[in-house]
Formats: sequence, structure tokens, C-alpha cells
Amino acid sequence: MYNAKAYSAANASSPLTFTKISRREPTENDIEIEILYCGICHSDLHTVRNEWEANNPTVYPCVPGHEIVGRVTRVGSAVAGFKPGDIAAVGCMVDSDGTCPECEAGYEQFCSNVTFTYNAPDKHLGGVTYGGYSDSIVVDQRFVLRVPSNLDLAATAPLLCAGITTYSPMRHWKVTTGKKVGVVGLGGLGHMGVKFAHALGAHVVVFTTSPGKTEDAHRLGADEVVVSRNANEMQRHAGSFDFILDTVSAQHDINAYLNLLRRDGNLTLNGAPEKPLPVEAFSLIMGRRSLSGSLIGGIAETQEMLNFCGQHNITADVEVIPIQKVNEAYERLLRSDVKYRFSIDMASLKSE
Ligand SMILES: NC(=O)c1ccc[n+]([C@@H]2O[C@H](COP(=O)([O-])OP(=O)(O)OC[C@H]3O[C@@H](n4cnc5c(N)ncnc54)[C@H](OP(=O)(O)O)[C@@H]3O)[C@@H](O)[C@H]2O)c1
Ligand SMILES: [Zn+2]
Ligand SMILES: [Zn+2]
Repeated sequence: MYNAKAYSAANASSPLTFTKISRREPTENDIEIEILYCGICHSDLHTVRNEWEANNPTVYPCVPGHEIVGRVTRVGSAVAGFKPGDIAAVGCMVDSDGTCPECEAGYEQFCSNVTFTYNAPDKHLGGVTYGGYSDSIVVDQRFVLRVPSNLDLAATAPLLCAGITTYSPMRHWKVTTGKKVGVVGLGGLGHMGVKFAHALGAHVVVFTTSPGKTEDAHRLGADEVVVSRNANEMQRHAGSFDFILDTVSAQHDINAYLNLLRRDGNLTLNGAPEKPLPVEAFSLIMGRRSLSGSLIGGIAETQEMLNFCGQHNITADVEVIPIQKVNEAYERLLRSDVKYRFSIDMASLKSE
């Protein structure tokens, strides 16, 4: 084992502060990565504050972070394809059994033995896994991804969660030219959703509670922007969408969006608010509409997404911050004040 620098939360109401954590020595299949950038996902905030206690209680201390880009420092003897000095990326998962039907189908995220990057039982060291708010991480080679060389690294980190989480359902629900697609919430996930829907050729409508984001939404690729608190604006789109991706992190009325779907249209939930969202039966039975969810994406699809981003020159719009500003960034996330993802420059951890 060796010591790594990190930021952790001691309990659900404490701020994140500097700490040292143990990482395992790389085994033969492991890759050790010096973390250069880590994005801040709203899931980090939900977890740090134990807002998902009912489904996935937080074990403290908690080191979040699952949008990781870094440089390989050491590799195990059985590692093929990565060598010290290479750029590498890690997302929301660091391990799975590799043998179950879900793994074999490329859906490691649904494996019953998946190990998420943080707050999951650590098979090697006991306790729970510690994520990317750290200067170093050790990950099985099967879960290490390649970054196209033309992409900016700070802006690439958020692709590892916000990117794949929005790309995967758009591919699954066949977002393409000629489809009318809605993206609800213009935060980290939402702004990636807009970029992907636009790149896939759809007619993109952004729903936002923040009128001040209208200009940005157009710049990111939206064809239309609806301020969702305006009932008349919403009504103009009734029954017209093929697909809507809901990325909202807090309570909101999903029936208002289900009613905008056309016959057989689908609304997929990406957002994972703390409390249940009530659904009106009539929102679904009228027009045979469907409501579904989506969780990140498998490893092969994550690499496909990164390659797609390389080809289309897509990255996140980031505000790069030192790790000392992480608690402030969380407060801004809660105010929907993010343009449109915080990316932590891990060089800032060196001075701690
Ligand atoms: N399914 C998955 O695999 C997966 C992966 C990652 C994250 N998530 C979840 O997805 C959600 C979004 O994550 P994120 O990182 O994109 O968060 P984020 O950057 O904070 O963005 C969330 C956006 O939702 C909108 N919003 C916030 N509060 C709202 C409210 N009360 N009513 C209506 N709209 C509101 C805001 O957009 P406007 O200002 O435009 O209204 C805000 O910018 C979180 O719950 C997160 O845990 C799920
Ligand atoms: Zn995330
Ligand atoms: Zn499996």
C-alpha cells in the first residue's frame, strides 16, 4: 500500500477537507494513474450528503469523484496497451466480475458484482473505494479508457460520467436526424446531452428553469429553448417529442414533460433526486408513452463515446477550479450555478 493525497467528507454535514488515504500497490492487471483532472458530478454531492441513503447509504470518510483523467505512472506485468506516461481515463466503475450475462453483453454497470469508483466495497483493501478527488488511483486495466489525442484534458474529464450518461440513452432510444429531442435541465449532464443530440442530428429543445442560460443553450446546440416555469411555452410543445432526457437533480413535475411526448414517445430519467417523483397514470396511458431510466453506460460504449467526441471535437464546457474551492462549487451546484461542469485541477493538491 502507499499513501495518496485526497479530499474527503467525514459525515453528511461536514465539508470536504484534506486527508491521506491508502491505495493498493498495482497487481499484475492494475494501472496506477496520477490524476490530473476530476470533474464534479452532482452524484458526488448526493453521496457526500447521504441523500441516497435509502438505496445506497454513504460510508464515511467519503472520497468522491468519478470523472478522472490522468497519466499512467505504473503498470502491472499483465497490462497490455498502457505504459507509464500514457494519458488514461476512469469513469464510474473500477471493476466487475466480467463473467455474468450483463458483463458479457457489455453492461458492466448492471453487473451484480460491479465495483463503483467510490462508496462501494473495496475487494482489495476492505472498506469502501475512494474516488478521484485524489492525486492517484489504481484501477484494473479493463476499466481504464483511452482519450483521443485532440481533446483538452480538463474538459474531457466530465465525459467519463456526464458524457456517457447522456450518450448511452440517446443511442439506445435512437436519437438521430429528424427526431425531436428534449433535454431537461442545463447542468453538467444536460449540456452534454444537448451537444450529443445536436451532433446526432436531432432537433433539440432545452427546458431550463434558468432564463439566463438561454443564450448558452443555443450556443451549445439547442434549436429552441423553453423556460419550463412558463406554462404557455410548455403547452406549445404538447404531444410533439420523440424523446426527452430528464437530467434534473431535484424535485420537479415529470408529468409536465411526459405530456409533451408524442405517441410511443419516451422520457428517460438520468437524474436521481433524493425523493420519489409522482407519475400520473394518464401521462403514460394517453399515447402509449413510456418512462424509463438509464445508468451511465458500459465500458465498450464509454470508449465509443470518447472516440465519437474525438471525431466531433466534443468536450464539456468546464470551469477549472483548485480542489480548495470544492465546497464552494457544491453550493453553486445547488443553486444551478454551473457553466457547465466544474473540473478540479489536481495540481492544486500538491500544496496540501
Ligand atoms: N443516471 C446516471 O447514470 C447518472 C449519472 C450522473 C448523474 N446522475 C444524476 O443526474 C442528476 C444531474 O446531475 P448533474 O451533475 O448534471 O447536476 P447539475 O450539474 O447540478 O445539473 C442539474 C440541473 O438540473 C436543473 N435543476 C436543478 N434543480 C432543479 C429544480 N428544483 N427544478 C428543476 N430543475 C432543476 C438545473 O438546470 P436549469 O438551471 O437548466 O434548470 C441544474 O443545472 C443528479 O441527480 C445526478 O445524481 C445520474
Ligand atoms: Zn456522475
Ligand atoms: Zn458481471
